[in-house]
Amino acid sequence: MAPIQLKEGIYWVGVVDWDIRDFHGLSTDAGSSYNAYLVVDEKIALIDAADPAGGAGTLLRHIAEIVDPATINYVISNHSEPDHSGALSEVMKVATQATLLASKDGVKRLGQMYHQEWSFREVGDGEKLSLGKRTLKFFNTPLLHWPETMFTYCPEEKILFSCDAFGSHVASTERFVDEVGTDLVLPHLRKYYAFLLACFRKAVLGAMDKVKDLEIDMIGPSHGPVWRRDIDILFRHYRSWATLEVADKATIVYGTMWGATQTMVGAVADGLKAGGLECRAWNVKNTDASDIVSDLLDSRLILMASPTFVSGIYPPIEAFIPYLRIPRDKTKKLAVFGSFGWSGGATRKLTEILRAEGYEVMDDALQQRFFPGVDEVRECYEFGRGAAEWARGKESASA
Ligand code: FEO
Repeated sequence: MAPIQLKEGIYWVGVVDWDIRDFHGLSTDAGSSYNAYLVVDEKIALIDAADPAGGAGTLLRHIAEIVDPATINYVISNHSEPDHSGALSEVMKVATQATLLASKDGVKRLGQMYHQEWSFREVGDGEKLSLGKRTLKFFNTPLLHWPETMFTYCPEEKILFSCDAFGSHVASTERFVDEVGTDLVLPHLRKYYAFLLACFRKAVLGAMDKVKDLEIDMIGPSHGPVWRRDIDILFRHYRSWATLEVADKATIVYGTMWGATQTMVGAVADGLKAGGLECRAWNVKNTDASDIVSDLLDSRLILMASPTFVSGIYPPIEAFIPYLRIPRDKTKKLAVFGSFGWSGGATRKLTEILRAEGYEVMDDALQQRFFPGVDEVRECYEFGRGAAEWARGKESASA
């Protein structure tokens, strides 16, 4: 797609990736984009350089539609991860006069990654760069989402180039969120936040506080469409996630071998609903882990359900446990249930492991032998209702 002028003299020159389906473990069913921005003033600055997988040619072609890439004065690296810096080598070959600006840590990392003698310059937190009529101001925003990350802000145009923050993995011919549809973008924003930024939630809050007094009427993230409307909605979602707000919602993460645990899931879900929690259930064998992690974000209660496998936890459920760590949220409550054939063991081991991880796990995990009958289904329902009441702080059915 062609470059697009966002404001006078400020262009999106990035690369849309319709094909990507896996972004280092995060499933990207809607593709993505690697955004780069060109600021054309008396001096010319390029902000970030797109992914190398076919991206360099597109990026340079987009720039060349606006200016001769050889006339770029500054290349600003907000983030050194390859999806932001992968085309730097090609860009710096052409932009021979350009100085490469990054945070102190960014300069170090780019050196370690590309081993090139580029003309580097470190920029400090709050430092300004005049391009003529416009200024670029840099804000260190470590851990959004690597330690060296920074935001770049143009006060005259009120644009914040926010790097990974406020991004979404969405490929589209439209460049603005309101053109794609805010409601369509929000689930991608949430999944992106959950998988890439939730573990750095204190850094997210710190960065938001740092820019809270800036006049911002446009946010250009490094992925997905640009925000020019609904910025209040965007900030409200980020602050809600970063402050660990939960909804009256439960998520069941389950595995099943012959369907017994799956039958239990249905009855437990009905009980959760009766106890006041909306419920979603995910079979780990059929669902990408990043989709489940996104759903955990605002869940008050997480239920892990596993059949017993060789006296222990069903391996696909055991393999999911590390994903629970991604949101780094130990305030959530957990409950455990599952089926077994003759020896049992999965629920006890799951409870032990989850408690060792630091979670509050409801006492008296429910385990049932073979396939549930009428009485067992009723027991599952009551277990779900009790778990919901326990998670909501009411008198626990398991107490
Ligand atoms: Fe867009 Fe941290 O990568």
